[in-house]
Amino acid sequence: MEQQAEDMAVAAEPGSAPTHPLDPCTGDELVQAVAILRDTGRLGEKAFFSAGYAAEPPKDLVLGFEPGSSWDRIVRLVGHDRERGQSFDARVSLTEGRVAAFTWIEDGQASVAADDYIAMLKILWRNEEWIAAVKKRGIEDLSLVHIEPWVAGAPHPDLPANARAMHAIAFLHADRADNYYARPLEGLSAHVDCDSGQVVIEDHGVLPMPTDPAEYAADRVDRLREGLKPIEITQPEGPSFEVEGNVVRWQKWQFRVSMQPTEGLVLHDIRYDDDGRDRPILYRAALSDMVVPYGDPSPMHGWKHAFDGGEAALGHAANSLVNGCDCLGEIHYFDNFVLQGNGEPRHVPNAICLHEEDFGILWKHTNVFTQHPKPEVRRSRRLVVSTIVTLGNYEYGFYWYFYLDGTIQVEIKLTGMVGVSVVENNADSDMAPIIAESIASPIHQHIFCFRLDFNLDGPNNSVYELEVEPLPPGADNPYGSAFRSVASRLGTESEAQREVNPARARHWRVVNDGVKNHLGKSVGYKLLPQGSSTMYAPEDSLHAQRGGFARHNLWVTPYAPDELDAAGGVFTNLHSGANGLAAYAAANRSVEDTDVVVWHTLGVTHVPRPEDWPVMPVEYAGFTLMPTGFFDRNPSLDVPPTKACHT
Ligand code: CO
Repeated sequence: MEQQAEDMAVAAEPGSAPTHPLDPCTGDELVQAVAILRDTGRLGEKAFFSAGYAAEPPKDLVLGFEPGSSWDRIVRLVGHDRERGQSFDARVSLTEGRVAAFTWIEDGQASVAADDYIAMLKILWRNEEWIAAVKKRGIEDLSLVHIEPWVAGAPHPDLPANARAMHAIAFLHADRADNYYARPLEGLSAHVDCDSGQVVIEDHGVLPMPTDPAEYAADRVDRLREGLKPIEITQPEGPSFEVEGNVVRWQKWQFRVSMQPTEGLVLHDIRYDDDGRDRPILYRAALSDMVVPYGDPSPMHGWKHAFDGGEAALGHAANSLVNGCDCLGEIHYFDNFVLQGNGEPRHVPNAICLHEEDFGILWKHTNVFTQHPKPEVRRSRRLVVSTIVTLGNYEYGFYWYFYLDGTIQVEIKLTGMVGVSVVENNADSDMAPIIAESIASPIHQHIFCFRLDFNLDGPNNSVYELEVEPLPPGADNPYGSAFRSVASRLGTESEAQREVNPARARHWRVVNDGVKNHLGKSVGYKLLPQGSSTMYAPEDSLHAQRGGFARHNLWVTPYAPDELDAAGGVFTNLHSGANGLAAYAAANRSVEDTDVVVWHTLGVTHVPRPEDWPVMPVEYAGFTLMPTGFFDRNPSLDVPPTKACHT
């Protein structure tokens, strides 16, 4: 692990200097910011960094930015001081060469860093009680034990209240290259304070180690199927998009791309060129945070409710993507720089993938009764911006799709290893279904909260809820079959806390009542949700207190520059809760005809199945943003037919 950490410390590649306030930090900028902060002497010898990134200037500065002009470049540095047992939040002005703000955090701690994992390993492998508990399970070769770090949520009561708490579980390798998730050290976990070194071991009893391997690597499975012939994607004239720095242009779309530690992929200033009319749609769109609460009350799982964004810095876990494996075709990659614990940047090549995909038909009509009897068909294609993160046992792929008809879609792909328990006699339960010989997997949820800062033809927007209701039979309803769409404006933050309701075709429409289409109606985009439950843990549980955003599928708040976090942002780790979105919305402000931010909570309730083992085929979640009266007609009439369709 220490070797691994050293390998990670490769020198930063020089990035080009920022020319726009939303340009991500270069490696050099991170180095500079760290040096300025260290020079102040505020950080002790045992301080380390969890994250460093360009702080976003206020929206009005960004929207009014003139190319070539200067601005105060602020780098936000976040980390933890082990000596002090406290995390810090620093804002360093590179323009002025000084620390512009510095705070020690009272509730919550900086995201978990590799330094914490290394500290935890050292502490546990020096702990005799831990070693004895491992040996009690018949394990002699301790080098075959993999310790899996988990965010603790809250410190164990026997640890200091300000503990840098981690929760460890463990697995056993049969050989160093195998899938150790097949062999959990059932019943054993450890609570570790990475600052003080204190440990609390929990041992709930020994169960026999499962013996079935769970291999999935191509060179370790019994056989590979045959008959799959190559699919090659070729674009002989190159892709149809253009990239300039972090700005992407494709067809009529334009936006900026970046990565943040908590949010991962962030898109800014999404615009559409409507026949020469430059139309803003979203100022900022990103995952804000997510939580994975477990429903199995077993001592190995019941405490789990990982916030992979804020606690684990999801953006730091971005894979370096490979053409032909992760994405296919003519690819443009964006790199990322991650600040490591020691203050040195780590260059992550190919962290974001940009490419086009053919997506079947866009529209089609055939009418043999006219003089124009040939079918009119248009191919749909989409621009894909994506990233894939690995967080311990799990992978999440985040995909933003832009279509030729003005639709934007978000798709999350969930894959990787499910959590596991050892069970005797293949005992099955409705909280932990049996999925393999002696292996059960706890029921859990993956709940994502996306923050959508709309700027639909300007800042002043409102949100309506639309649903369909049947009408009673009567003179106006002679067939007794009438139904209608009813729109209600969501006036305040509390009125705007809503759930999905597929039975009523419920969805939400963001409008600009100050801008009308050619029919005199307000321009709008609808948020089309998928059927998605909210968090099952009751409101007074720690899980729900810390994950207030998971209580509702829809929230609307008025824009405030500091209100970016569904939970506690970079200080979600060990935060006591009642923060973030739920706290913002408690102000119950008006959300009518103002600069609104729409928050959409969605996800997957995962009841594991045998087919999820030994590696889970992708399960999907997502939502769609679709123009509704934003355009005067089908905006894709001008898409030309492909050669094959136009003979
Ligand atoms: Co799952």
